[in-house]
Amino acid sequence: MHIGVLTGGGDCSGLNALLRGLVLSLVERHGLRVSGVRQGFLGLLEDRVEPLSPERVRGQLLEGGSLLGCHNKANPFAYFGAGGADCSERVLACAERHGLDALVVVGGDGTMGIAERIHRLGLPVLGLPKTIDNDLMHNERSLGFDSAVEVVSQALRRLKTTAASHGRVLLLEAMGRTAGWLALEGGLAGGADLIVLPELGFEEAELLQRCQALLARQGHAVVCVAEGAASVEALRPRLQAGLGEGVELRTLVLGHLQRGGEPTPFDRVLGSRLGVMGAEAVVARRFGQLLSWQGQGCEFRPLADVVGQPRLVPPGHELLRTAQGLGAILARG
Ligand code: F6P
Repeated sequence: MHIGVLTGGGDCSGLNALLRGLVLSLVERHGLRVSGVRQGFLGLLEDRVEPLSPERVRGQLLEGGSLLGCHNKANPFAYFGAGGADCSERVLACAERHGLDALVVVGGDGTMGIAERIHRLGLPVLGLPKTIDNDLMHNERSLGFDSAVEVVSQALRRLKTTAASHGRVLLLEAMGRTAGWLALEGGLAGGADLIVLPELGFEEAELLQRCQALLARQGHAVVCVAEGAASVEALRPRLQAGLGEGVELRTLVLGHLQRGGEPTPFDRVLGSRLGVMGAEAVVARRFGQLLSWQGQGCEFRPLADVVGQPRLVPPGHELLRTAQGLGAILARG
């Protein structure tokens, strides 16, 4: 068998650990041939497919980014390079030209949506989960999430000391377009005084009042806001007006720092695990499935069950209750 592999959507830490596990295992253990597709599905639209050898992936365990490159706008069913037209037949033709028997697609919700449709068109696909948002359905922990939590947590620890020195209010914006997992777990790990999640919403008046109470009690406040709940830049003038001239407010959008750099040990192990288990799944022809991570081990889920809706923080989730127990959660109403 000849297997193609691509990393779709936005990048994250741990992708190269996964590629290392997958390629070493597919080639050296199972004797298969592997090609790398450059920049997600763009590589199949633009015919950028090249052999991927064990030599290329050795030594990549700790490297950030993706050695294959990523692209988060390359949707073959609405290709920007062709005015938004459906170019999925180009993907199938490219796979055929290179003699690919199957595709391993590493990605989040958007990428899995494409993967599922490509699989239905006849090119067998195995999905492997990665996204710092950790919002892929039926998947407890996505590759890259733990590394991003570490960045958020580290940033909050640093903000805490400077906020305390100056007696300031500091707002940190964590990524997470729809789901608040990263702000929640990063906020807990980093000791945020308040955490604001898209799932719960919030009232600005309540945020102001909680910041004032924190100032009165401890002299400073550090707030972790999920991107999907609010933009800290947009909040800044209104909150500053409410706090008054005497209180200094600062904001930080953490942005792509959360996606770059060396993966944590957890993500190195998860990446290796997904790579090696993914190779076994390929050999067993478990296509049309996501190899998901469920805390104690890997499980298969039909791609069709995974796509379409993001995995949000559910009401009553243990992490949410933990943050509530610490008095660190804002909620509307
Ligand atoms: O999906 C992951 C994510 O990191 C989101 O949290 C964020 O909104 C988005 O990617 C940003 O992507 P980019 O800036 O690469 O378009």
